[in-house]
Amino acid sequence: MLKLNLGCGSHTPNGWTNVDYALGAWLAKLPVFSTINKIFKIINLDWPDQIVIHDLRKKFPWADNSVDVVYSSHTLEHLSRTDGQAFLKECHRVLKPNGIIRIVVPDLKSIVDKYNQGEVPAEEFLDELDISYESSEDGPMKRRLAPLIRFPHKCMYDTPALLRTMSNLGFEVASKQGLESEINDVEIIEQPNRTVDAVIVEGRKLANDARKPDKTVNSVSVVAHR
Ligand SMILES: C[S@@+](CC[C@H](N)C(=O)[O-])C[C@H]1O[C@@H](n2cnc3c(N)ncnc32)[C@H](O)[C@@H]1O
Repeated sequence: MLKLNLGCGSHTPNGWTNVDYALGAWLAKLPVFSTINKIFKIINLDWPDQIVIHDLRKKFPWADNSVDVVYSSHTLEHLSRTDGQAFLKECHRVLKPNGIIRIVVPDLKSIVDKYNQGEVPAEEFLDELDISYESSEDGPMKRRLAPLIRFPHKCMYDTPALLRTMSNLGFEVASKQGLESEINDVEIIEQPNRTVDAVIVEGRKLANDARKPDKTVNSVSVVAHR
């Protein structure tokens, strides 16, 4: 059974093909950077070595209709809306008919609600959205390296937006609670802290999908203006 964990970070459970482009894993192989990193603690270089390194904006290295389950937690929002759609189309291509897909992303609505209710002050709103390369906690070295080591959100979703997006691409989807899933070993792959204030959508690739993806705008894109 082939199960993909796309954008795994350092969470690499057994039985899953854990995929990331793992800048940290790559940088860890550079002795000079490792030495500098030990001093300045810029980035986590403690990456498990069984990660499959792949840029999820590119065509996936798996064959059509070959994958049983796709799981992706807190990764889709790091892709632009266009790249995110291409990513989901690739998930659709590689999944077997009736294969399961489960996507977890931060909930835009939850963050906006907290702002509207005064729980998040304006000064912290962008930090909550995580759309900036800057963090108030960063020292001068981290600020300089921000474009290399920070991965701000490029697109955000609420539940209806993610449902629409995935449905338009040929998945039969529903909103789920944390650990509520048809994935047999969901408790291994899903980290409960990642399901708080999150959108969780799970579904299947329709067996006979004759629909064409439409061009509906389903989400809020975050575009950097310079
Ligand atoms: C916020 S972490 C999520 C890690 C883990 N899935 C979790 O829920 O804690 C996002 C991960 O997506 C990865 N990522 C972002 N863009 C990617 C891309 N284009 N290709 C591969 N991995 C990517 C990052 O390297 C990072 O490990």
